[in-house]
Amino acid sequence: HDLAGFVAGLPKAELHLHIEGSLEPELMFALAKRNRVAIPFDSVEAVRAAYSFSNLQDFLDIYYQGADVLRVEEDFRDLATAYFDRAAADAVRHAEIFFDPQTHTDRGISFDVVVTGLLAGMAEAEAKHGLTSKLILCFLRHLDEEAAFATLKAAEPWLDRIAAVGLDSSEVGHPPSKFERVFARAGEMGLLRVAHAGEEGPPAYVHEALDLLHIDRLDHGNRALEDPALVTRLARSGMTFTVCPLSNLKLCVIDDIDAHPIERMLRLGLRATVNSDDPAYFGGYVNDNYRALIPAGKLDAGDFATLARNSFLGSFLDDATVSRHL
Ligand code: ADE
Ligand code: ZN
Repeated sequence: HDLAGFVAGLPKAELHLHIEGSLEPELMFALAKRNRVAIPFDSVEAVRAAYSFSNLQDFLDIYYQGADVLRVEEDFRDLATAYFDRAAADAVRHAEIFFDPQTHTDRGISFDVVVTGLLAGMAEAEAKHGLTSKLILCFLRHLDEEAAFATLKAAEPWLDRIAAVGLDSSEVGHPPSKFERVFARAGEMGLLRVAHAGEEGPPAYVHEALDLLHIDRLDHGNRALEDPALVTRLARSGMTFTVCPLSNLKLCVIDDIDAHPIERMLRLGLRATVNSDDPAYFGGYVNDNYRALIPAGKLDAGDFATLARNSFLGSFLDDATVSRHL
């Protein structure tokens, strides 16, 4: 119990958070009403009851549907504010949040509406909680290269407000190689690069993310552990893994939370971090994810401090700011 309190109070950064995945059912209902959007649920309880997934695609289908209530700037601001308020309560001092512009532009919501709303929430969080944040623009990998290039084009006026590009959505069948040219262009534009890889996809996808997308950080990365040479490479290069324990459990990437590989990652010398991914859908914010790792008994206070420290080391903050947080 002491350990839970210690872990909860550790200052931390969150590096793997889809802002659309922080849409709680209560806010979904409120926005549906405000925007007069019909949703296929009768109650908040019915929404929560639908959150039972057997794989990534199961989840994505319901996640994209939920995002339909987001229509105007104010909705994106309210979404971000709700997340930052919750994160601040978990001692999150800095967050690098993903957003999926294509989920919105494909419904006729402009890129500028999405970004303006999110930036308003980010400014408010800094003023209210001293919580700093950065934006990561994710391309939906089930869509084609041309659509990703169009999204990158829409981001051009906002380049000074976007830290990085990422790659998410359905992994298997959509390897990193599909976006090699888009990521090369993003790099030329001065953006950092991250990608979801090795969540459901094979170690070969992690190799591609390194060699073809030139990633600065690896999202999930669980299946890299199947390839010892890859593990050595990732440990030597100091690659940060943004690991999401409760997501892994809910999406059946693992069968049992007590068998989560994060302890193994640390022992292998990998720079692992703990994150919540889509907290409204997976049953917990970042402290719930840390707390879920306690019962297995494999991590001590020092390990948890390392995980929190890794979250700052793996962030895209400059070195002086990272030092101030450690
Ligand atoms: N989009 C939101 N959460 C995701 C995840 N865990 N994997 C891939 N795409 C996602
Ligand atoms: Zn994710």
